[in-house]
Amino acid sequence: MINFDKESQYYEKSLDLNYKKSNGIFYTDFNLAQLIINEINFRHSDVKVIDPCCGTGVFVKLAIDKGLNNVYGIDLDKKAVSFVKKICPTANLISMDSISCDFKQIMKRFKIKEKFDYVIGNPPYVPLTSTSLVTKEYLFLRQVKNYGDNLYVAALLRAKEMLNDNGIISYIIPKNFLHVNSYSFFRREILRDFSILSIVDIGKYFKNVRGEQIVLTLQKNRNADNTIKIKKLKNNKFELLTEIRQDFYTDKIILFESKEDVEIYKKFNKAYTTLNDYVKGYVGRGHSKLDNAICGKDIRKFGLKSLPPQTQGSQIFIQNIYSAEAGIIACFGGQLQANETVTIFTDGDPTMCRYVLGLIHSKLINFYLLKYCYNNSLLTMHVDARYLRSIPFIVDNDNFNVVLEYVNKLETLDYMSAEWFEYYNLLNKIVYRIYNLTEQEINFIDNTIKKTQSKKWDKNG
Ligand SMILES: C[S@@+](CC[C@H](N)C(=O)[O-])C[C@H]1O[C@@H](n2cnc3c(N)ncnc32)[C@H](O)[C@@H]1O
Repeated sequence: MINFDKESQYYEKSLDLNYKKSNGIFYTDFNLAQLIINEINFRHSDVKVIDPCCGTGVFVKLAIDKGLNNVYGIDLDKKAVSFVKKICPTANLISMDSISCDFKQIMKRFKIKEKFDYVIGNPPYVPLTSTSLVTKEYLFLRQVKNYGDNLYVAALLRAKEMLNDNGIISYIIPKNFLHVNSYSFFRREILRDFSILSIVDIGKYFKNVRGEQIVLTLQKNRNADNTIKIKKLKNNKFELLTEIRQDFYTDKIILFESKEDVEIYKKFNKAYTTLNDYVKGYVGRGHSKLDNAICGKDIRKFGLKSLPPQTQGSQIFIQNIYSAEAGIIACFGGQLQANETVTIFTDGDPTMCRYVLGLIHSKLINFYLLKYCYNNSLLTMHVDARYLRSIPFIVDNDNFNVVLEYVNKLETLDYMSAEWFEYYNLLNKIVYRIYNLTEQEINFIDNTIKKTQSKKWDKNG
């Protein structure tokens, strides 16, 4: 198998990087494909299996090695298909556009009447342009557009078409499919019509591919009692983290890593209102084009790098790029103008703005964003207004003034001095009290944040 991997890599390297990027050509290595194949419980050796975008055929080869007799592969790239033909002479292989063509055309080319029992692989991820799909199927094109407008979305829809009842799809796809708004219609259809057997978080697996990936395994036909196995790639294994009933989800799919994750999420949702219940003004991107408009890089936690604390106005400026390492970086922006690298929150009330500023810098709110908005992604993300509005938010009479006092100190003391950290830690403690968390929950959040945030935020913590 070393030879297969080497030769496949050799072929992949011969392709131009820009061509690969614009066509979503990044082959799956042998190890990952093997783990995926091992996850699937093939019912018997005569089941029909296809990788409709097979590239150099790693899934085709492994399925044949597993003893399966009816293995099919398609790829647009004729040379890649020839490569697979040499390695897997018993496989059924053709070169065609398996995403533009519907399942009837595919079955005609293969001269078969029965649909497939398993559709596996790693389809191309490319935002669609007007030429990506060569089809006149109006309803298909419309659905692809509404479902997220990406080639892998089209590939997933085609996989669904070519699948038998009770058939299984196992695809590597971008992780943001689970939580980004533009995929909402498709997610809801999947939650309604399929049993999601497992989701494996494989992190940022592919060099040169943006974002993180998951392995999504679905079974056609919805089993009312289905539970989803949530797994993570660790030490070359798919490790089970937790299981959750599918009906827990209605749209966004959060990759809970443990029972504690689930319990804290439930508590946040049940017990607290959200920022949206309090926001009176605008939450969204800055749009000033002025040269001196504040940009993301001008902001540090609780202040502007080169301006004193603002006294007028009622805006909070948030660095638009969020990283798990730094957490939220925001300041009181007063009446200043900000450009599109800043997310602005306004309330009309500067005092409430400063209370919000305190809460959004806390470990608790950063934990919420990391876990339940960004699905544990360690890459940089955008501070989306939708996520900000969803954060659990309590205006606590007893502690309101204390939070304001700490925010005032954090705005005026020497940035990141020992005293500054003292108040930062006091702020975190008071926020835990406001949200009424148990000692156990606090430890869990502290530990999670410790593991993900940069050490520089944990002084004296
Ligand atoms: C991400 S690669 C994965 C290849 C292989 N499944 C693997 O996992 O190694 C995507 C493959 O899809 C192929 N492809 C792209 N668009 C296609 C289309 N419209 N029809 C068939 N194959 C396509 C590319 O040539 C490439 O080989």
